[in-house]
Amino acid sequence: MPEAFRPCSSWPMPDRDTPGGVTETNFLPYGRQEIGDADVKAVVEALVSGWLTTGPRVSEFERSFATHVGAGEGVAVNSGTAALHCAMRALGIGPGDEVIVPAITFAASANAVLYEGGTPVFADVEPDTLLIDPASAAARITAKTRAIVAVDYAGQPADYDALRALAVPRGIKLIADACHAPGATYRGKATGTLADISCFSFHPVKHLTTCEGGMAVTDDPGMAAHMRRFRNHGIDSDHRSREAAGAHAYDMAELGYNYRLPDVQCALGLAQLRRLSGWVAARQNIARLYDEALAGIAEAVPLRTHPDRTHVHHLYVVRLVEGIDRDHVFARLRAEGIGANVHYAPVYLHSHYARLGYPAGLCPNAEAAARQILTLPMFPAMGEADVRRVVGALTRATA
Ligand SMILES: Cc1ncc(COP(=O)(O)O)c(C=O)c1O
Repeated sequence: MPEAFRPCSSWPMPDRDTPGGVTETNFLPYGRQEIGDADVKAVVEALVSGWLTTGPRVSEFERSFATHVGAGEGVAVNSGTAALHCAMRALGIGPGDEVIVPAITFAASANAVLYEGGTPVFADVEPDTLLIDPASAAARITAKTRAIVAVDYAGQPADYDALRALAVPRGIKLIADACHAPGATYRGKATGTLADISCFSFHPVKHLTTCEGGMAVTDDPGMAAHMRRFRNHGIDSDHRSREAAGAHAYDMAELGYNYRLPDVQCALGLAQLRRLSGWVAARQNIARLYDEALAGIAEAVPLRTHPDRTHVHHLYVVRLVEGIDRDHVFARLRAEGIGANVHYAPVYLHSHYARLGYPAGLCPNAEAAARQILTLPMFPAMGEADVRRVVGALTRATA
């Protein structure tokens, strides 16, 4: 087996999320990390290096990851959510500001706006890709709109040219929530180059993991410096820079947070980054196998890939046709040990958002899709037999 797909020989890796009645060994989760010997070695080296946090591996990971996604600067933080929060602060989002966010995304894309006192305004999605619909975004623009968050849903970049055409003439900033899409491209451009700030997540189900972690990347050194300060309580020096300068004084220039990503986790990120391209290729191959196997099944339609984009398949999502009970199919797959999932319910239907006054019916495409979509297992170590098993179970469940 190539190194990229070799499970670590000495560490067991039970599947998370195993429902009762299904043995751990035959459960196929919807996503799973790859941890190999090189990762364990890198983490152990970091542990005994003398730097557990704010050390040299942080800057090395920032440089390497930013370069990989085509950006000039990277700011490592301890989650994708923290990266989005840093982006909101660096762009000056605050009370009275509106930020347009697609309805179908993980709640964090919108929550980051709330953290800063701004107002998320939900745009509808394209029914066949679930990417933000630029026409819906255009219809949501008001005099208060300060930013648009584009989510690269499932690993396919949003339509950045269309969004930029809306944003730039009006002085509206663009944030890429690229948590699903490291390594993807839009019209030949890498995901770290498409917005003012692009945010990534290193949660275990993502393309590469630091256990928990994230990064905000940008070409603007001023915004990068602001985000570095914000992730460190709003203090504009850190332990290492004060050590280097032989200084003890520091100033807390604004109210920030402790969003730092430790060196030990950056060491894991660096080891994982070396295998990212291979993992993306493996995901693309699994997607091709799914596409082929599903071609004969009218009941489950894969989401569409735009020909001008490289899709990196964080998720493989099918849309079940009208009349099929998605929750019944979900339950049948789970009963067969297949960790199907749903990404996502429209954010504004969560009870927190309902209490803030967001009504149902805001985004009809998103609400219709949310009743019909199903995420099938997708992770690099899956083989052809796994794909056949999933498609076989799906065929039985939708018959
Ligand atoms: C689209 C999207 N945005 C943001 C996040 C938040 O990332 P994290 O879980 O690292 O905070 C996620 C992670 O699930 C995500 O999928």
